[in-house]
Amino acid sequence: MTPVVLRTPRLVLDQPGEGDVESVLEYCQDPTLQRYTTIPVPYGREDAETFLLDLVPRWWEQGTEQTWAIRPADVPDAPLLGVIGVRSHGEVGYWMGAPHRGNGYLGEALEVVIDHWFGAGNERMTWSCLVGNIASARTARRAGFHFLGSGPAKIAHRDGSRPDSWHAELFAGEPREPQPGWPAEVVG
Ligand SMILES: CC(C)(COP(=O)(O)OP(=O)(O)OC[C@H]1O[C@@H](n2cnc3c(N)ncnc32)[C@H](O)[C@@H]1OP(=O)(O)O)[C@@H](O)C(=O)NCCC(=O)NCCS
Repeated sequence: MTPVVLRTPRLVLDQPGEGDVESVLEYCQDPTLQRYTTIPVPYGREDAETFLLDLVPRWWEQGTEQTWAIRPADVPDAPLLGVIGVRSHGEVGYWMGAPHRGNGYLGEALEVVIDHWFGAGNERMTWSCLVGNIASARTARRAGFHFLGSGPAKIAHRDGSRPDSWHAELFAGEPREPQPGWPAEVVG
């Protein structure tokens, strides 16, 4: 699969690479990111290099996951702000570097990734997070995902466990606005 560049008014999404090692290494020290994702802990330079130089290109080539760097648009040598990806079975995942959270960038990136996914003829996208990850759940709710309930994580965590997680889905053609049924703490 050829890597695709996606654009929004404020962002450009492209394949992350060698120039992003320092940013990924820095952001992946964040305890919140470590808690809510399956990245290795402790996270070292080798992990960032493996992710950027081995895994991401391989995933694109084999079509197992489309992984984008989220960058500011119209900035020379635009730095990586966060990462978003969709696995071949339609599961979306994302993180933002801690200094860049709270700007709505992730929601904007998710919208264009959803457009791209359904534009390519796919019918369904899924999302999940650990129970209590309000920021991630609010992002998915705002994008239109339907809450399905709680259950074990579909992807094993770094200790092999499958902690209790929230699950949601979105189908092609559905409205991209908040749907009923989400836990009260997510609705706010
Ligand atoms: C999830 C994440 C990507 C969201 O990115 P972001 O830049 O904060 O996204 P936004 O600015 O669009 O905020 C998303 C929503 O969460 C809310 N939010 C952000 N941080 C929050 C927090 N700590 N507690 C509660 N709500 C929070 C925002 O107010 C916003 O709500 P709204 O849509 O109702 O306005 C980011 O918080 C992150 O990287 N977290 C760590 C990694 C992670 O959890 N990844 C997802 C794994 S499933």
